[in-house]
Amino acid sequence: MIESIKSNFPQSTLEIEGNRLVYLDSAATTLKAKSVIDRLSKFYLYESANVHRGAHVLSDRATSLYEQSRTDVKNFINANSPNEIVFTRGTTEAINIVARGLKSVLTKGSKILLTELEHHSNIVPWQIICQELDDVKIEYVKIDKNGDLNLEDLKEKICEKTKILSFTACSNVLGTINPVKKICAIAKQNNIITVVDAAQWVAARPTDVQDLDCDYLAFSGHKIFAPFGIGVLYGKYELLNSMPPYQGGGSMINHVDHNKSTYLEAPFRFEAGTPNVGGAIALAEALNYVKSIGFNNILDLESKLMTKTLDQLLNIEGLKVFGAPNERSNIISFSIDGAHHSDIGTLLDKQGIAIRTGHHCCQLLMKKLNVTGTARIAFSIYNDEFDIDAFIKALNKVREFI
Ligand code: ALA
Repeated sequence: MIESIKSNFPQSTLEIEGNRLVYLDSAATTLKAKSVIDRLSKFYLYESANVHRGAHVLSDRATSLYEQSRTDVKNFINANSPNEIVFTRGTTEAINIVARGLKSVLTKGSKILLTELEHHSNIVPWQIICQELDDVKIEYVKIDKNGDLNLEDLKEKICEKTKILSFTACSNVLGTINPVKKICAIAKQNNIITVVDAAQWVAARPTDVQDLDCDYLAFSGHKIFAPFGIGVLYGKYELLNSMPPYQGGGSMINHVDHNKSTYLEAPFRFEAGTPNVGGAIALAEALNYVKSIGFNNILDLESKLMTKTLDQLLNIEGLKVFGAPNERSNIISFSIDGAHHSDIGTLLDKQGIAIRTGHHCCQLLMKKLNVTGTARIAFSIYNDEFDIDAFIKALNKVREFI
């Protein structure tokens, strides 16, 4: 199967500096599947038209394709209805829509709970909302020494003033897979609205929003083999519909008068202007591709690579792996004694190995780990044992050099 997967990712066979590319930066963005890009090209070459407004057959077709994509996303995450799916630019925009939309549930003294694992995209939007309100505070649920969320701390921090719990399903630094269903159940018992950042989760684990019983969930297409600039906000329909629009414009109104307008119901009230029609169609293609591979196969492949890599990394003298969570996704962050993380990245790059270094948009977590940054690898379905062997060999050369 790996050969047929690889052939769908031409970039994975690229040569860099005379070496076959070893792409281990899939947490930043996955490579794009050829079948997905072919679908996007087909749309732009033969099917391109604006949606929901044309008086011609191409517009009707584009509208059907766009709305079918919404249904495909709904099926992929097992939402109740396509109307619970809002197309966004990505996770960041989705969380901003919710943060702004939930402003009205926050009153003087309210609390928002986040966690120490959060990416900036799940911190800054809430801070912006807090700055606009009187005495609304953010608290951070602690992680333990392994990088797992401390559920006792979560329970202790919850009080009657806690209105929102927004948390990542999977850490983009430590690879921690959070017990999302359990966390949502704790929140629900306390009438707290849950927002799940599924950016790193969506390609790593199957998503069933009804089973998780989360109120909102956000993810980006580009982390699941689809193009940049398309993402999804899922929300339970009534909750979604209770939020005001994030931005105004065409396609989101019912009626416009000189001083006031009325808005469409969700999801359209959150999709002002011409949407990313091609992006939505390509995203649906990517999700259907993932379904055709199957999460059993994906987990099997990635966990074999993970076990092999961790075994080898933990045997390298002076190398530290950050975190040892109960359940780890496809992500490992590490450091090497005496080496700056950016030097590790550069020296690996010279050998054709693409990784990410830095704070990974998680400055609070870096502070907690007491580092300025880490080196990070993340696998995906197009990686194989050759990649791991090449990475470990290259890493040993980095150590010798340093
Ligand atoms: N959030 C992305 C990452 O972790 C960009 O690399």
